[in-house]
Amino acid sequence: MGTTDDTQALADRLLRHAGAALEIYTVYLGERLGLYRALAEQGPATSAELAERTGTAERYVREWLEHQAASGLLDVDDTTAEAAVRRFSLPPAFVPVLADPDDVRYQAHQGVEIARAGRRLPELVEAFRTGDAPPPLPWEPEGRAEWNRPLFLNLLAKSWLPAIPELDRRLRSDPPARLADVACGTGWAAIAIAQAYPRVTIDGYDLDEDAVAAARANAEEAGVSDRVTFSVVDAAQLKQTGYDLVTIIEALHDMSRPVEALQGVRDMLADDGTVLVVDELVEDEFTAPASDIERYHYSWSVLSCLPDAMGDAETAATGAVMRPSTLRRYATEAGFSDVRPLPILNDYLRFYLLIP
Ligand SMILES: C[S@@+](CC[C@H](N)C(=O)[O-])C[C@H]1O[C@@H](n2cnc3c(N)ncnc32)[C@H](O)[C@@H]1O
Repeated sequence: MGTTDDTQALADRLLRHAGAALEIYTVYLGERLGLYRALAEQGPATSAELAERTGTAERYVREWLEHQAASGLLDVDDTTAEAAVRRFSLPPAFVPVLADPDDVRYQAHQGVEIARAGRRLPELVEAFRTGDAPPPLPWEPEGRAEWNRPLFLNLLAKSWLPAIPELDRRLRSDPPARLADVACGTGWAAIAIAQAYPRVTIDGYDLDEDAVAAARANAEEAGVSDRVTFSVVDAAQLKQTGYDLVTIIEALHDMSRPVEALQGVRDMLADDGTVLVVDELVEDEFTAPASDIERYHYSWSVLSCLPDAMGDAETAATGAVMRPSTLRRYATEAGFSDVRPLPILNDYLRFYLLIP
């Protein structure tokens, strides 16, 4: 039983979290309006200068700058100066987190993700009552793909795949390997692999038309569109064959029919082909209270991943907290002979090889 101290501690915690949520919304504004990037690239600024640089209104920007400095996200040269002449700067140590989308520590897109999750809360209230799915959100703005992008460009093909020697060898050898990235999102995993392994060809598949359109544009811009294609297909309907490797990254738990998808993926494999599943790093068993990262994944599960998988009478309704035992069950039901957890360390993700 809780004590009155526990009661006050909980009240304090929720108040702190409300402040944190509001701070994340101000990060959303900084990210969307390019305010952090303008400070990083063009140096310290008064509110008028930053407004001029970013095409924004000075009074709004001044309030934002003062909030950011008061919150320790920006430095200010002289707190006692007149508001109009105070100069604000982004500390160099914060640039990777707030202004460099290529850095694996970039977190400004959390603002975009959290704002996006909040947009359909009223519909989610109704969905909890009916058991249906809330209406899907449009792809933009979408922070998750941007969050994964630097991870894929910096780690997927430069660190994670090389840590699986048999796969790494196959991706470098002849005949050139054929890969499929199922539920490819905006294509960054396929692009990163194509850049690191110049012989492979990759087909990305996703059921979201906007994501596939973005993936095509991203591949074109990255200069790999001659070896990387993207198509709109439901994973459960895939009929293509002959792939040496199929990847499913941060997506199996999103699929309403993961066993059907895995059955289809198994049929796509060439002889000796394997499947790499990357999904959320969650505890082996339900734990309460749980670690911060488990709570983070559960929050996304409640707000986004589970709702997105509802609205299908046959849904497996997995949610983001897909435990290793759940994946093993899906893989076994889909006809795979083994699921091998891989010893790749990451704060958020787990890696598995599915053996046909
Ligand atoms: C969290 S995103 C991950 C995207 C990408 N793999 C990445 O890591 O950036 C999940 C993706 O799964 C896709 N998806 C969900 N169910 C699917 C299905 N049945 N078939 C194909 N794609 C699906 C969604 O459209 C979304 O792009």
